[in-house]
Amino acid sequence: MRILTIESTCDETAAAVVDDELRVLGSVVASQDALHQRFRGVVPEIAARAHVERMLPVIDEAMRRASTVWDDIDAVAVAVTPGLAGSLVVGLVAAKTLCLALDKPLVAVNHLHAHIYACRIARGADIFPCVGLIVSGGHSSLYHCRGPTEFELLGQTIDDAAGEAFDKVAAMLGLPYPGGPALAGAAATGDASRFHLPRPLLGDPSRLDFSFSGLKTAVRYALAGVGKIDFAELDLDPRLVADIAAGFQTAIVDCLVGKSMLAIDRAGLARLCVGGGVAANDHFRSRLESACAAGGVELIIAPRELCTDNAVMGAIAFEHIKVGAVAPLDLDITPGLVRGGPSA
Ligand code: KG4
Ligand code: ZN
Repeated sequence: MRILTIESTCDETAAAVVDDELRVLGSVVASQDALHQRFRGVVPEIAARAHVERMLPVIDEAMRRASTVWDDIDAVAVAVTPGLAGSLVVGLVAAKTLCLALDKPLVAVNHLHAHIYACRIARGADIFPCVGLIVSGGHSSLYHCRGPTEFELLGQTIDDAAGEAFDKVAAMLGLPYPGGPALAGAAATGDASRFHLPRPLLGDPSRLDFSFSGLKTAVRYALAGVGKIDFAELDLDPRLVADIAAGFQTAIVDCLVGKSMLAIDRAGLARLCVGGGVAANDHFRSRLESACAAGGVELIIAPRELCTDNAVMGAIAFEHIKVGAVAPLDLDITPGLVRGGPSA
């Protein structure tokens, strides 16, 4: 059995053909970084328009790389929640149109659950039950994953997502977009102890939530003190940039690692699965490895190419197909986060 999966929740247009052994037959990701770079963040309207232009060529190319014809496709899966409304609509319309024209079943995918499922694909064996941590540009969420279609939200960011904070702090430091990799590069030579930055909510064991907007503000004060500032006029000495980047990265990683270990304790589980763009961060990966080794917790982090948005992880659709969860053709998008329950 083979499926075509489509991903367009944010600013990557992606399609993949995957079989029911979770073998990736063809995968394409068209990044929009160049379009959003000068705004230092994703502009939703630009993202939606770019998806419209790229969707069909990306699907065509994924089918070509997989040497697959439409007769060999058994279902079409598409991420319908959460994400940017205009972006989600483009993927859903493409998927529905293919299903209607070719008489194939449609399967709805929850993008965050799919990020965790990237760990299942990479591992090649069952990962459930586990605690799932998604750290991306739009979300920072902890789940109790009881099974591949049973995710309970344990906590999430109450303001900025981890990746969003990386991107915004990188912008303050004059680093290019997307900020995560650029900031990690600057942090490599920095002294993380020079600035004392807060670890919001880390000291509150009653909550599994994150908060990063205060940390971002603390960086702004460390950079230029209180009062009005013009970032373009700041004297950004490379030593200062490196030290702030290192301090910020360590603070955010402390929060992510600390709350993940607390979630493991609370859920009474010994397996942590991590996905999303920020999980590509080397410092984060090695800190998680140490914490999990010390706590006797099995750690599965998605490989870097499956951390950032891709359509391969949409193969979670096979789990829905197994339990007969095929979507109707009047399926709609849900841009906001769905709390728990079955995927999508
Ligand atoms: O999962 P993703 O590709 O898209 C969303 O669903 O949001 O995540 C993108 C985010 C961006 O904020 C980017 O800056 C961040 O992941 N990111 C990183 C790294 N690589 C990507 N953050 C920190 N360190 C990295 N190496
Ligand atoms: Zn994502």
